[in-house]
Amino acid sequence: MSQIVDLFDRHVDYLRLSVTDRCDFRCVYCMSEDPEFLPRDHVLSLEELSWVAQAFTELGVKKIRLTGGEPLVRTDCDRLVEYLGKLPGLEDLSMTTNGSRLSKLAKPLFDNGLKRLNISLDTLNPELFNKLTRNGKLERVIAGIDTAIAAGFTKIKINAVILRGQNDHEIIDLVNFCRERKLDISFIEEMQVGVIDERKQSRHCSSAEVREIIEQHYPLLPSSKRTGGPARYYKMADSDTHIGFISPHSNNFCHECNRVRVTVEGRLILCLGNENSVDLKAIVRAYPGDIDRLKTAILNGIKNKPKEHHFGQQDEVQILRFMNATGG
Ligand code: GTP
Ligand code: 5AD
Ligand code: SF4
Repeated sequence: MSQIVDLFDRHVDYLRLSVTDRCDFRCVYCMSEDPEFLPRDHVLSLEELSWVAQAFTELGVKKIRLTGGEPLVRTDCDRLVEYLGKLPGLEDLSMTTNGSRLSKLAKPLFDNGLKRLNISLDTLNPELFNKLTRNGKLERVIAGIDTAIAAGFTKIKINAVILRGQNDHEIIDLVNFCRERKLDISFIEEMQVGVIDERKQSRHCSSAEVREIIEQHYPLLPSSKRTGGPARYYKMADSDTHIGFISPHSNNFCHECNRVRVTVEGRLILCLGNENSVDLKAIVRAYPGDIDRLKTAILNGIKNKPKEHHFGQQDEVQILRFMNATGG
């Protein structure tokens, strides 16, 4: 069992490790239109990321998800996967990606030990895709998804953030896309991060509404499927596709939170809705390769993990970090 235990007796065995804040897209809910990225020397090197990962796995972390920005814009990401794929004790190595580079990279990633992929896809309409990502090409992402299936990935999950008035009419099309390819899908409520304005608030679409729309077309059965993430799953009655709902506003999953994040700058973030953090970069740079020192800092830091986030509540703390800087 994980030695990383917080004051509320939650055992942390899941690390979301961000490898870059950069991305080839600029999704409207994730980044500003004209983002400033960190200078390269602020970003953990491959070796530094490896030490951090080793410290967490030695403390009992069993699951690491690589996030970003877009992990695959980092050119040494395949080498990191190769290293992490061999880490003793790590049972589940996964990545959340926008899919734009999978046509080239899916096969080598699979061969190096990556087993699960979550791929963002909010719309099947090329023009809307281009608008929501502020420059993305839908056909590249679909080709990437199909290459990943052909490469052998069996547990692909599509992530769709549903925004009222934008892509809420495509919920059934997205479900059908996943049914045809035997993929799972999670529908996500937008979390208000970065600059919050009225436009963002009025486009909120709750998981309950999304589920109601799906149930008008397809019966859903409750499912016990859990991936260690925040999604609550249902199974389609007539297919193997599972449909998840990630509802930071309407369903607080904090009491069973099992995860922490490390940002691209090496900050250990204890909760997505809170600014408490521990500067692991300062440690890896002052004491390169000293895994015990990192472990001590993690064990001390976890005591500051807050009880819960407050997204969508009156006492919501405004999080000024954009998602790409936090690592989803
Ligand atoms: P698996 O369960 O391993 O498939 O992953 P996941 O669904 O947790 O990860 P993914 O990276 O695909 O994230 C999907 C959505 O869940 C994104 O919008 C994340 O920001 C959100 N998310 C993941 N973990 C947390 C969390 O601890 N708190 C909140 N509020 N949102 C989270
Ligand atoms: N709210 C909810 N989900 C978000 N993502 C990025 N920004 C937000 C946000 N503000 C999702 C992306 C991707 C995953 C990393 O996080 O759609 O699937
Ligand atoms: Fe890039 Fe993912 Fe953020 Fe979109 S949501 S801008 S694809 S990191």
